[in-house]
Amino acid sequence: MPNNATSKTINAALLKRFGAEFEIDPELTGLNELEKIAGHRSHRRYLTRPIEPDLLRLLCACALSAPSKSDLQQCDIIIVSDATIRKSIVSFIPEMPWIDDAPVFLVFAANGRRLPTISKLRGKPFANDHLDLFFNAVVDAAIALATFIRAAEAVGLGCCPISAIRDHPKTVSDLLHLPNRVVPVAGICVGWPAQAGEITPRLSLSTTVIENKYDADDLAAEIDAYDRRRAKLRPYRQQRNTDRWGDASFYGWSEDKARQYAEPMRTDFGSFVRGKGFCLD
Ligand SMILES: Cc1cc2nc3c(=O)[nH]c(=O)nc-3n(C[C@H](O)[C@H](O)[C@H](O)COP(=O)(O)O)c2cc1C
Repeated sequence: MPNNATSKTINAALLKRFGAEFEIDPELTGLNELEKIAGHRSHRRYLTRPIEPDLLRLLCACALSAPSKSDLQQCDIIIVSDATIRKSIVSFIPEMPWIDDAPVFLVFAANGRRLPTISKLRGKPFANDHLDLFFNAVVDAAIALATFIRAAEAVGLGCCPISAIRDHPKTVSDLLHLPNRVVPVAGICVGWPAQAGEITPRLSLSTTVIENKYDADDLAAEIDAYDRRRAKLRPYRQQRNTDRWGDASFYGWSEDKARQYAEPMRTDFGSFVRGKGFCLD
């Protein structure tokens, strides 16, 4: 049966997201799923309603049903149900109280340990101890994280990934007893949303979808256009680091990101990863 209402909802979401209209065939199957994906938003406020353990288990299973590089299965999910461990994590990220408020907090980890262990168990040399081992494991974890979000949103839950745990990788690693060659990729808060939330506009598809070959683009103009479009829908409430950069009369996404990356962050992450036994060469 044609679903005109759903195709309209998808179009409305994508118009906010990309500032463009899309041709959507109302007879396509799976429009309900596209509606959820197109309408995605991160949630940082949650009801106190708990998430049943069976539902959480189901979502973890769906997340780990995601594709995995060479079927190597290098993502692990850590359910942080111990209140003391969660409080310790929150204590060093006080600017993100939603980590404490969420009924569930998980950590997605890249596991580069199982594979060399399997090689040893099967009496084979492990001939690929280089950057690709780390990269594959992180990619698997990121895909599983995204799939978890998709599954959670399908049942009406809201999520917020937390890369801020990588500001303190050793502390998180010690708290969760992560062994050698297992590193945290991102945490994620999960809960029943307390409010509808809003769509965040993205760069236009002409900036981020390339056909065949990159060519000389007009990035500066595209960024300016995006900044203006985004500011109409989601203006920044606060300017970053005004002590250093002053108050901008127009404060757009690119100004915010440039200011964010003007400060050194996670400069110790490479040495942490090497210290966990990964070879990054
Ligand atoms: C890998 C990853 C890490 C993130 N880390 C954080 C974080 O530490 N804290 C936070 O509040 N949001 C975090 N986010 C959420 C992003 O800020 C959010 O996805 C982005 O602003 C776009 O908004 P949207 O998800 O509502 O479209 C993270 C998202 C991703 C994918």
